[in-house]
Amino acid sequence: MTNKEDIFKNLVAHAKEYGFIFPSSEIYDGLSAVYDYGQMGVEMKNNIKKYWWESMVHLNDNIVGLDSAIFMHPRIWEASGHVGAFNDPLIDNRDSKKRYRADVLLEDYLAKIEEKIEKEVEKGRKRFGDAFDEAQFRATNPNVLRNKAKYDEVHARMTEALSANDLAALRQLILDCEIVCPISGTRNWTEVRQFNLMFSTQLGNVDGEAGTIYLRPETAQGIFVNFLNVQKTGRMKIPFGIAQIGKAFRNEIVARQFIFRMREFEQMEMQFFVRPGDEMRWFTAWKQTRLSWHKALGLGDDKYRFHDHEKLAHYANAATDIEFEFPFGFKELEGIHSRTDFDLSNHQKFSGRKLQYFDPEAGESYVPYVIETSIGLDRMFLAILSAAYCEEQLEGGDVRAVLRLPACIAPVKLAILPLVKKDGLPELSRKILDDLRFDFNCQYDEKDSIGKRYRRQDAIGTPFCITIDHDSLQDGKVTIRYRDTMEQERIPIESLRSIVSEKVSMNKVLRQIHKIG
Ligand code: GAP
Repeated sequence: MTNKEDIFKNLVAHAKEYGFIFPSSEIYDGLSAVYDYGQMGVEMKNNIKKYWWESMVHLNDNIVGLDSAIFMHPRIWEASGHVGAFNDPLIDNRDSKKRYRADVLLEDYLAKIEEKIEKEVEKGRKRFGDAFDEAQFRATNPNVLRNKAKYDEVHARMTEALSANDLAALRQLILDCEIVCPISGTRNWTEVRQFNLMFSTQLGNVDGEAGTIYLRPETAQGIFVNFLNVQKTGRMKIPFGIAQIGKAFRNEIVARQFIFRMREFEQMEMQFFVRPGDEMRWFTAWKQTRLSWHKALGLGDDKYRFHDHEKLAHYANAATDIEFEFPFGFKELEGIHSRTDFDLSNHQKFSGRKLQYFDPEAGESYVPYVIETSIGLDRMFLAILSAAYCEEQLEGGDVRAVLRLPACIAPVKLAILPLVKKDGLPELSRKILDDLRFDFNCQYDEKDSIGKRYRRQDAIGTPFCITIDHDSLQDGKVTIRYRDTMEQERIPIESLRSIVSEKVSMNKVLRQIHKIG
């Protein structure tokens, strides 16, 4: 039986083998935590962007889009707090010379305790069978209770040290937990130091500090500094939102888990500007809307959970993460934050320009409050890919690697396969292709046996294959094969467009969001 770790390794290999994701600069041995999207990856990524953009911008009267530049005035990052406080606490192991994020070492330690608890619960389940009462077991089993107490203590000390920015306390906790370097196996740790995550470069011919500019670590600031431009030119009335999809850059020290944590990645962010005092209502509403957006894709409702932040950043008065069950556990997929008027007020202060809105209903001017929804596009890609990837045991011992992607997200919607490369079948197939390619992304394949071609399409998640055979020339029908069930049926060529269009339609999923919401 393959375990979760092996499946994840297979998934990474699969993503490369089928043209979804390549390591960047591979012929030069790669560049850590940077990836390229291949021919399938780019299609799928574009579909995810479309799903987000349509739901945010096109389906809301009061949300508009923006595409701001990556380079911005360096003072912006002082105003936003990124120059002073966008840091990770790092620790080095003197023996292996490897550098780690102190908080990640502790999180891994906590994850191991959680694992022990879950194993104990599983043991209990096996032992007691149908009579098993999980809640009672968790509340009374001595091993579970001991581990839970340990977990709570370490978690509380870590949270306190992080929020107080107490680096010595973080180091002490690592020592107290007897955490060893995974490479050297020793506890020979340095002090913990802060490390700024922003990449910097020089602007044109301006030398030294004056010419230093940053690659944006989030897209949000481009929205804040354009708040009045958009509000005035779009005659927007509060509440309203500005949405943006774009690249962000972070010099992540712990780069791992494939495209989960990258140094160059894309964000899909929306800032929703509201009247001060209304922010909690909107925060709650956006939490639900965003969760519905995720659930409508049908990856499984139990794969999501909210993680409300207990300790808030100084600028936030509420924050939550939507966590997704990745192959390596529940992790943050999207953040929803109530950011008060922190960003706009600071930009006002640092730029000396007013960033206020005159509210005609209230008859007053104010700096709006902001609810932010922020999701990593690459992380969303990984969430979908990992939920879709399946190694299926077939009768006869064969294993089928199939991507059960939501049809509207799949890179190719329909594969057109002539049974043989002769007798007029390629010609009829190409005629069908030339007609349908205006409606959706199709792929034509005439190489190898039909079985092998089906497998190739399963591997890239194509929801439908059609086979054109000799009978097709006579009866005008083709065989359609469904990816998930592998069932086949014969249908008239003229009905192909409507059958496939209906099934791959993004509209259907978008309408679902409103039903779930
Ligand atoms: N403007 C708010 C903001 O940037 P964040 O929690 O730092 O908040 C938002 O990032 C989202 O961006 C995360 O939930 C995650 O999906 C994605 N993200 C953050 N850092 C990332 C990285 N290094 N690689 C891939 N995605 C990342």
